[in-house]
Amino acid sequence: MKAVPFTFEIDSPDFIPSTYDNHIQRRLSSMKGQYLDQDTYASLLAEADPLLYEVYELQRPTVPGELLHGISIVHPGKVGSEYYMTKGHFHEVLETGEVYYCLKGDGFMVMETPEGEWAVEALYPGRVLYVLPRWAHRSVNISSDEDLVTFFIYPGNAGHDYGTIEKKGFRKLVLARDGQPEIVDNPRWGQAARP
Ligand code: F6R
Ligand code: ZN
Repeated sequence: MKAVPFTFEIDSPDFIPSTYDNHIQRRLSSMKGQYLDQDTYASLLAEADPLLYEVYELQRPTVPGELLHGISIVHPGKVGSEYYMTKGHFHEVLETGEVYYCLKGDGFMVMETPEGEWAVEALYPGRVLYVLPRWAHRSVNISSDEDLVTFFIYPGNAGHDYGTIEKKGFRKLVLARDGQPEIVDNPRWGQAARP
């Protein structure tokens, strides 16, 4: 791990950073229970396990004072009428904020608190989004042909709680209707993990 100030460029093709430590790839199989159309999810998975999104991380110590950062790339695609999206998570240290800066594409950040508040914010190039402490967050790519690329940065000690969303899902979903994204209540909320 570097012990001097360091830099990286993100203007390379496909927005892959010039330097990174971890490259995480998440496929359809990691989204069990999250998509509304469970039959389509199962039939797509029976054929292949497409890559939904990738994260390029720069490694730093997971302690207060450090800032973890990197690039998130959600590819275009749908499961039924629901767009490709990230798993989404709360931070383990719930009182942790995170900044996203959209570099490319067209999408939404779907957010909610444990108390049931929710918000959906557009992501487009040049837009900065501050995800407040306590808010779970999931990026959704609503483009039919372009990656959704964001730079993210958050405190080193935040940790990730994926389990809550894996079990319950998000309260809101983004679905395509007549070619347009629509925010709807998730009828499976609270039981996402159930087949
Ligand atoms: C980190 C963060 C992003 C996401 C990335 C992938 O706290 O919010 O770096 O990790 O967009 O999404 P998840 O982690 O939900 O699979
Ligand atoms: Zn986060």
